[in-house]
Amino acid sequence: MTVVGRLLAIALLSQLFTCAVADEQDVRSGARIYLERCALCHGSKGLGEGPMALLIRDYPDTSLKNEVAPNRSIQKIVESGLISQPSGVSSPPWQHELVAAEISAVSAFVDIIRSDFEQAQRELASANVAPDRIDGRKIYRARCESCHGTTGQGDGRMSRVIVNPPPSDLTRSVLSHEESIEIISAGGAKLGRSPRMPPWGQELVYAELISVATYLATLRAAEAD
Ligand code: HEC
Ligand code: HEC
Repeated sequence: MTVVGRLLAIALLSQLFTCAVADEQDVRSGARIYLERCALCHGSKGLGEGPMALLIRDYPDTSLKNEVAPNRSIQKIVESGLISQPSGVSSPPWQHELVAAEISAVSAFVDIIRSDFEQAQRELASANVAPDRIDGRKIYRARCESCHGTTGQGDGRMSRVIVNPPPSDLTRSVLSHEESIEIISAGGAKLGRSPRMPPWGQELVYAELISVATYLATLRAAEAD
């Protein structure tokens, strides 16, 4: 190889290397933006299991694994939104809330949900999201209210059939924040308590567990008032 050839090869390699690093950071921030902005409807795994989709009757299937608008680029949909037919419900436009780099990062992340679901799940599990960017109340309403009730008193619909023990009255819970997160994540059975308290650690990412536990604290405070 000539000297020029060698120099070119080195330049090319280093170019490839910086691309790979930038991509990795992109994916990382894409996963974080996804959890902060999209998981509410599309779910914390991208399978359409977001609180919004669970709470609203006949909400369209928001799983990102299936393409509903194959002839439009993901980036365009993220920028300008998409109105779902026939429901008329929409994926919001993000061009005024996210900067271009964020739009491209989160779009690239949607692509990874489709092309490499396992990698996407690893990124979501380790994403560094601020729990206060996640709506713990909505998660509670979608996942917990049916048993624990609107105000946390253990009087949800399911409490008619789940007895001995019934769903805990969360306003009287004496668990610490960490202990709450532990039982929410692991479920009752693993901790020697009722198996009717489901484990949520597979369903919710860590930041979501923290934000729902934080919401429980507000239920206690409301009851104390
Ligand atoms: C308020 C709820 C909501 C939020 C928040 C939301 N979306 Fe959507 N999204 C939807 C709905 C509803 C659809 C239409 C689904 C259908 O028609 O089947 C959709 C569709 C899409 C589609 C097209 C699906 C496909 O497979 O072709 C993409 C891509 C998408 N959303 C990306 C995002 C991204 C990225 C974010 C976050 C930056 C986001 N959405 C936030 C509700 C939402
Ligand atoms: C299918 C019903 C059901 C659902 C849904 C459910 N729980 Fe529970 N939960 C229970 C039952 C039953 C117990 C009582 C376990 C026991 O006493 O052994 C319990 C106990 C708890 C406790 C322990 C309280 C204490 O002081 O000991 C916490 C915290 C809790 N649940 C939080 C949640 C959260 C948060 C969610 C939603 C993410 C949730 N639960 C969803 C049934 C449920």
